Amino acid sequence: MDRSAVEAVKARTNIAEVVRRYVDLKPVSGRWMGACPFHQETKPSMSVNEDEGFFYCFGCQASGDVIDFYMRINGLEFRDALEQLALEAGIELKGFRRDPQEQERSRKKKLYLDMHEEAQHFFSNCLGHAVGQPARDYLQRRGMAPEIIEAFGLGFSPDDWHGLDNYLRSRGRKSEEGVEAGLLSKNQKGNIYDRFRGRLIFPIKNLSGKVIAFGGRIITDGEPKYLNSSDSPIYKKGEHLYGLDVARRRMNVSRRALLTEGYMDVLSLHQYGYTDACGVLGTALTTDQVKRLAGLCNRVDLVFDGDGAGRKAALKSSRMILLQGAKCRVVMLPDGKDVDDVLQEHGRDGFEACLESARDGLDFCLKTLRDDFSPREIMDWAGSFLSELRDPALAAFFLPRLANGLGLSEAELRRTAPAGKGTRNDPPAPKAGKVIQMPKTQAATGRANKNDRIYLQFCIKYPDYIPHLDQQQMHTVFSTDRAKALWDKLRTVQPGEDILSRLNEQEKRFYIQCRNQLAENPLSGQELQQEWDFICHSIYETQKKNYLRQLRENMRLAQEQGDGVLLEQYQRAYQDFLGRNNE
Ligand code: UTP
Ligand code: MN
Repeated sequence: MDRSAVEAVKARTNIAEVVRRYVDLKPVSGRWMGACPFHQETKPSMSVNEDEGFFYCFGCQASGDVIDFYMRINGLEFRDALEQLALEAGIELKGFRRDPQEQERSRKKKLYLDMHEEAQHFFSNCLGHAVGQPARDYLQRRGMAPEIIEAFGLGFSPDDWHGLDNYLRSRGRKSEEGVEAGLLSKNQKGNIYDRFRGRLIFPIKNLSGKVIAFGGRIITDGEPKYLNSSDSPIYKKGEHLYGLDVARRRMNVSRRALLTEGYMDVLSLHQYGYTDACGVLGTALTTDQVKRLAGLCNRVDLVFDGDGAGRKAALKSSRMILLQGAKCRVVMLPDGKDVDDVLQEHGRDGFEACLESARDGLDFCLKTLRDDFSPREIMDWAGSFLSELRDPALAAFFLPRLANGLGLSEAELRRTAPAGKGTRNDPPAPKAGKVIQMPKTQAATGRANKNDRIYLQFCIKYPDYIPHLDQQQMHTVFSTDRAKALWDKLRTVQPGEDILSRLNEQEKRFYIQCRNQLAENPLSGQELQQEWDFICHSIYETQKKNYLRQLRENMRLAQEQGDGVLLEQYQRAYQDFLGRNNE
């Protein structure tokens, strides 16, 4: 990897500016603070250090530099995040070597994204021209405002087997590539044709606003009612949410997501001012989607159809959200209506009434279980729920509530949970973003490791002392190779060099944690003196021990070789040293 490119990107990218695209930041004593987008919270506990170029969350310990932030919030790979930021910063990633396979994958992805942009252009053109008249009439009948049609980039695919195919080929694309991109279909005979014909087109975008797939609604009679792009290297069903690229800005402020089931539902919600709305796309809500939402807000309000299927989906979805430790509510709509119907018929007031009667997600699950499930099914549901919790600590929260809601004792409930992730006394699984302790290889070395941490913490907080400590042979005091390795990096960092890019993940987290402690709680002069004394004393003690060990070894060798004179010299030195140091 070309480190200079990484450093150039970081040097030219202001982390606070990037974070501010997703999070409201407020200045707090020389730093920026905002609500962490990576865990659910109400109090802002993420700090962004503009000068040093990193972020750190006091709540979930998420941390890193601007590239880490960008990767995580957009769900990107390192290289892709770097490339996008490099592009923004006007830096060319020359000499940025990749293996040829990855290069090819990356080239294809870019090609498919370009083709989607072209397709979107084609579809929206069609909607505006004579051929799009039926679709325009349809949208008007459904009460869609022109601003919404524009903002969501709706389009129309003419009823033609080769409309898009021809258009793409006129732009130098190959039909095969259209199939790979999920835009065109291929039958068994190998003929390639337009996948979307005679349909109103809804572009599906990723969080960066790039079109990655399409949904198409039939506007005459026909099957299926909705058709989506097939999965492709740039689109996986169940990973994305419709409208999230637009909705996430409002979500950041409202801290809520309205989640619906349909394209038209999302559009109507936005049209009526609910701009924190997004949609699952014809599949059951997935863990990926929930994680994505939970990173942007702290409560998901499910707005599903008021029919049996809608209630079933609401039960599954709220279970999924609760399992991830996020908060949710269930907005029940009148029987047989979806939110688009409610808004178009009764406007905001109609929907506000529904919002007001929303139920807490867990209460909704419990009531549905009591009403519709057999005792056996209830126990199975509760057992699997407890065992699938993302964080075992959540079991403590849910056990009493489930027990209470289902009329069981906690002990009974605990017994139903199959040995799983959650309810037993297993050590919690390591979580991404958690601070990893410095190495602890054996219990006996625990204290030594703790000291390693103290030494390293001091060096990271007060780098001015590093050269002095280096002269004192600081490296001799570390008890693990990992600590020595980090010390070595700290010791050799060049002025003006970005230390973070030298560190591995674990070191980076530790480093940022230390820098933040310093920002939060700088040591007073006296405390600083105490820490410094402690470190100097440790170095001295270590060196003393090493020196004495060396002398003993030399005595042993002299004795073995029968060199009485040498032995005596060493013995004297040993006694002298002890005498001098025991005063
Ligand atoms: P609905 O059948 O409830 O449609 O499907 P809708 O959203 O109310 O659509 P309109 O109002 O009749 O236009 C809900 C969602 O399920 C997915 C679509 O995402 C749709 O919006 N779906 C539905 C499909 O993917 N394929 C289908 O054939 C039907
Ligand atoms: Mn509908």
